[in-house]
Amino acid sequence: MSFRFYNGEMNNKSTGMFLGEDSGIRNYDDIKYPIALDLNSALFAEYWIEHEIKLQKDIEEFRGLNEQEQYGYKMETGALNWLDSIATDFNFWLTSVITDSSWRSVFALINSFEVLHNRSYQYLTSTVLNDQEKRQAFDDVRKIPQMVKRNAYIIEPLQDMVEVLKRYNANDYVKDEHKVSDLELKQAIFKGMVNYQILEGLYFSGGFVYFHALARTNRMIGSNSLISMIKEDENQHSVVYGTALQILMLEFPELNTEENLQYTIDRFKTAVELEKDWVRYILKDIDIISIKEYDDYIEYLANLILRNSGMKDVYPNNSELKSKWINTYGAKHRPKSDGISTREDFLQTSSIAYQHSGGEDFDL
Ligand SMILES: [Fe+2]
Ligand SMILES: [Fe+2]
Repeated sequence: MSFRFYNGEMNNKSTGMFLGEDSGIRNYDDIKYPIALDLNSALFAEYWIEHEIKLQKDIEEFRGLNEQEQYGYKMETGALNWLDSIATDFNFWLTSVITDSSWRSVFALINSFEVLHNRSYQYLTSTVLNDQEKRQAFDDVRKIPQMVKRNAYIIEPLQDMVEVLKRYNANDYVKDEHKVSDLELKQAIFKGMVNYQILEGLYFSGGFVYFHALARTNRMIGSNSLISMIKEDENQHSVVYGTALQILMLEFPELNTEENLQYTIDRFKTAVELEKDWVRYILKDIDIISIKEYDDYIEYLANLILRNSGMKDVYPNNSELKSKWINTYGAKHRPKSDGISTREDFLQTSSIAYQHSGGEDFDL
């Protein structure tokens, strides 16, 4: 059934997160998946704004970076901003086919953070860079072949999902033979979320490392603090999406096919290779992090996300994080509290397993 603000014939409690129904009224004491309220609260608990982070020192320090390091700073900022732009719109579209109103509220909250992240890159670039450098950050990154290829690899399947969603949302207005079937919709959501996990868990985290590496050399600490705030949010989002994927598989065990499993592994493997191509370009002549260290980290991240999805490591040599400093310098700083908070990395603690015991009484 396509979206309705209110359906008087249904209970407040939904019949499913996808392809289900509910009244549209949020009653958090009566929701199908209580974890939606926990995630809602956890997201709100991390609320912050960009101006909490002071960047005065970074303005001077940026001038002290060598040319390649400055270039890396600009392009990595632009690349992250690009991903966050996609994130905002992806959440919006996915929400249009979520049939549990408490979950729609979770994604509305995620979107508010994605908006904040884009604003943060504006704040970062406006404070640290001059006008010309700022234009480079947002425009030049779109012209780097390795980056264009890397991002096109996820933009295309995300767009494919949206094309199915557009048609599904028009089902009420077309003849039966043109309607999107439930199976086509489920499959489109599955593939969309797999590719979105690459964006949230792999591509974002890879970009953050550049700022952690600068901070390790005791430079651009403010920028790294801002990035670490964003990183914590992205870790949360990855948990939300992992949970949503788990629910999708529970509600529709028919998606648990060998083909879908292989699709997921193949997507991650190619994404890792494209990330490695990009990093050989951006880290050329930069010695704050080695290509080998970066490669290991990216392979480790791919393992982590796949493991959290109930799959085996595809890179056995990187089952553990080798460069521990990445977590040390990537921990969230809480400027208004009494120190640095090193909350556990959500990615490392979440457990997403495709176990199918029938979705009816699913109670996370
Ligand atoms: Fe974001
Ligand atoms: Fe996100």
